[in-house]
Formats: sequence, C-alpha cells, structure tokens
Amino acid sequence: MGLNHSTLFLNRDAVEAVNLDMKKIIDIVEEALIEKAHNRVQMPAKHWMERGMDRDNSRWFGGMSSLVPKFGYAAMKWQSGSDENAAKGIPYLTGLLFLNSIEDGLVASVMDSTWITQQRTAAASAVAIKHLANPGEESFGVVGAGVQARSHLEALGHVMPALETVFIYDINPDASRRFAEVVQAAGLTPKIVNTPRAVFDQTSVIITCGRIQADMDRLADADWVRPGLTTVAIDYDCYWKPSGLLAIDHLLTDDLGQIEHIKPYGYFVDSPKFKGELGSVAAGLLEGRKKPDDSVAVMNMGVAVEDVGTAKAIYEAARAMKLGQVLEL
Ligand SMILES: NC(=O)c1ccc[n+]([C@@H]2O[C@H](COP(=O)([O-])OP(=O)(O)OC[C@H]3O[C@@H](n4cnc5c(N)ncnc54)[C@H](O)[C@@H]3O)[C@@H](O)[C@H]2O)c1
Repeated sequence: MGLNHSTLFLNRDAVEAVNLDMKKIIDIVEEALIEKAHNRVQMPAKHWMERGMDRDNSRWFGGMSSLVPKFGYAAMKWQSGSDENAAKGIPYLTGLLFLNSIEDGLVASVMDSTWITQQRTAAASAVAIKHLANPGEESFGVVGAGVQARSHLEALGHVMPALETVFIYDINPDASRRFAEVVQAAGLTPKIVNTPRAVFDQTSVIITCGRIQADMDRLADADWVRPGLTTVAIDYDCYWKPSGLLAIDHLLTDDLGQIEHIKPYGYFVDSPKFKGELGSVAAGLLEGRKKPDDSVAVMNMGVAVEDVGTAKAIYEAARAMKLGQVLEL
C-alpha cells in the first residue's frame, strides 16, 4: 500500500529546463539573506565528513539544511565532492536536495542540487558586489576559471552595468583559455594574466573561486589589498594569509557561525575578527563600505537559506511546466 502522497523528482536536465533567470535568483538570495539577518530562519550548522580518518579531503560529504517561513519551505542538501570524478567523466560536485513544505512536512520535491549550488553561489556574490563595490566598476577578475567563474560572469553582469573587461587567472592555462572564450562570447573583453597577483593589481573587483584545501599555500598578503578593493571568496580563506585579511577594512561573511564551525578543519584559523554578515548589510542593519578607498572582503561559505528559496522557485516553475517525474511514496 502506498503512503497516499507523491513527490516531484527533478533531475539535472529538468532543473536546467526550468531556466530560472539569474536576476530572479539574485533577488531570491538577497531576500533569503535578509530573512537570516532578521533571525527569521532556522539554519543549523552544516555537517561535513572527509574520507578516512586522516582528513583526506579528496572526497568529502556535506549536509546543509534550513527552514525559511517566508518561503514556506524547508530544504536539505546532501552533496559530495570528489577529485577522482573528473577522470571518470563525472562532475566534481554531485548531490540531491530535498524540499519540504513547512505546512504539511511532506517532501514536495527531490531534485539535483548541482545547478542550484552553481547559480546561487554566484548570485550571493552578486548581492555582495551590489551592496559593497564602488559603483561604476568596469572590470572584475577571477582566480580560478571553472564552473563558478562562468556562473559569476552571468551573475555579475546584472549588478555591474558598466562591465567591460574580465581578468582571468587559473593554475591551468587551458581553463583560462576556455573561460576567455566564454567571456568573449558574452561580448566582454577577456584578459588572461599569468599570476594571481596580477589580477589583484589590475582590477578592484575579484572573485576567488579556486580549490578549497586546508593546507594550501595561502598567497594574498597585505600588499595585495589595494584601495577600493571588493573581493568575494567562495573558496574559504584558501587564497588569504591572515595578515592579508587583517589589512581589509571591512571583513564580512554570509555566516559567522559557519566560519567558527570550519576552523577545526584548518580554515580561518588565525583570521582577524569578522565585522558581520552580508545579509545584515543587505538588510540595512550594518554599514558596509564607508568610502571609495575602503577595502572589503566577503568570505561566502554558501548558506542553506539560499538553496531553499531557489529550490522553491524551481519546483513551482517545474510543476507549471509539467517537468520531472511524479514518484508515489
Ligand atoms: N562557498 C560556496 O558557496 C561554494 C559553492 C560552490 C562551490 N564552491 C567552491 O568554489 C570553488 C570553485 O568551484 P567550481 O565548481 O568552479 O570548481 P571547478 O573545478 O569547476 O573550477 C575550479 C578552477 O580553479 C582552478 N584552480 C585550482 N586551484 C587553483 C589555484 N590555486 N589558483 C587558481 N586557480 C586554481 C582549477 O584549475 C579550476 O579551473 C571550489 O573550491 C568549490 O568547492 C564554493
């Protein structure tokens, strides 16, 4: 006998077929961060496991969940990252998201989580740039030219109306070249540089989106911080020496709790005190940049409230478009 309810399964193709507009995702993510700033959400700390007892993080498993009354849903995302996947033709990041209605608790949808993660992460960076970068910036740079560089290209276009040039550094020159073609196709000018320092020297808006690895040789120091810098790190502090972060005027994050939670894993170990959260700035509860010469760094860990809102929008659009498979539970 069945359980008299069903759930909508959306694989990656179905999620992508919804074609949820990046501008809409930026608005959803901003709303989610503002709800969080007002303490109107529940969001326990992420949990994280690494393969083996020796902290081998070549494969990890992570769970993150949140409940956002304003959206009417709770969600849990269960993902894995594996260095070995590329050789098998599988993406580095794989996973599923469970979306539950708050009203009845039922699982309304189970969907691939990778597209959501890809898009909402860049949308959160766009929220940071919108509220914290100097207006009229004409370029940004990426350190790391993979999947996230592409979604950031899409997202930052919405909050940087004067954007013309994208500086690119990747340890893999082929990745830089491939991303340069994408930038060109978007009607912008790509400029590949040979060192990460060159990105910091040539533009004031920088996204670091390389590898997350606790024992990485951190490079960015105080002399990399130029007046007017706005940088968003989605790769934790893997590019930053503590002395570099100390030179930043406004050090922010999307989640103070998550910064503390990750410290035992070797990240942000000696970093200076954070001023507050991005959502508080977006909500008008915390002052951001005070003057054009200020430097700002936002260390975005990725928060589950962003997933709830984005998944809700995908689920509702998919239903209207009759996408996915209905599974009887
Ligand atoms: N904070 C968040 O919310 C969030 C969300 C999604 C992904 N991430 C992280 O963002 C990072 C990028 O994700 P992705 O999906 O684009 O990965 P990806 O594998 O598609 O791209 C990463 C790129 O970075 C390059 N790279 C690696 N080490 C580098 C270094 N030291 N300097 C410069 N480039 C380097 C690689 O060659 C690759 O081209 C990953 O670390 C991922 O775990 C964070």
